[in-house]
Amino acid sequence: MVKRYTLPPDYKIKTLLIRNEPQIKIIGELAEEAFIRFGHYRDFISELVWKENVITSIIVNKRDDQDIIGFLVLGFFYEDSDKIPKGLYADILAIAIDEIYRNRGLGNQLLKWCLELIENLCLAGDKVNCIKLTVAPDNQNAVALFRKFGFEFEHEEIGEYATGVEAKYMFKDLNGLLEPFGN
Ligand SMILES: CC(C)(COP(=O)(O)OP(=O)(O)OC[C@H]1O[C@@H](n2cnc3c(N)ncnc32)[C@H](O)[C@@H]1OP(=O)(O)O)[C@@H](O)C(=O)NCCC(=O)NCCS
Repeated sequence: MVKRYTLPPDYKIKTLLIRNEPQIKIIGELAEEAFIRFGHYRDFISELVWKENVITSIIVNKRDDQDIIGFLVLGFFYEDSDKIPKGLYADILAIAIDEIYRNRGLGNQLLKWCLELIENLCLAGDKVNCIKLTVAPDNQNAVALFRKFGFEFEHEEIGEYATGVEAKYMFKDLNGLLEPFGN
């Protein structure tokens, strides 16, 4: 039986630091499959993972760097309106686990990695105000997972994905929780 909340023994979480075209292609294919209910995301995600304000983590086989079973794309943006606290915020732009590896705690592992990264940025002095993501409210396991990490729905509806599926923002407020040292 697979122990929950641990990676399969041969896999590790790794940040994409070097541009590796075969890996980017595989991430694009994973995205196409995982997000097909919302539209075609192959090209969008393949381009997104290398934007300069984005950090991408993957769950990859330690012995085969093309065996990727999940990814999370984290973006950083500056908010200047009154919709969310002004300043730097993080946006979980995409998270997906290969279908056959779902419900084993891997999404949990990637989110934990992401929150630890943001916490470390805050400890190093970059004040991140909140974390945002977009989700279909009927995507039950995604919503359950995000709630477990403290994300809540905004009341305001934001619209729909290309396929007409409803999309909403969830937020995790970091104010006061992750103050940088010295502030
Ligand atoms: C969302 C996604 C990344 C989650 O990854 P995962 O590895 O399956 O997630 P985990 O196993 O860590 O956690 C899933 C949680 O949802 C719960 N869950 C599963 N099915 C559920 C359901 N039908 N209703 C409520 N909760 C459910 C699980 O019980 C688990 O919580 P638990 O750990 O408390 O038991 C994965 O389902 C996926 O890739 N989906 C397709 C892409 C997608 O929709 N991404 C999100 C877009 S914002």
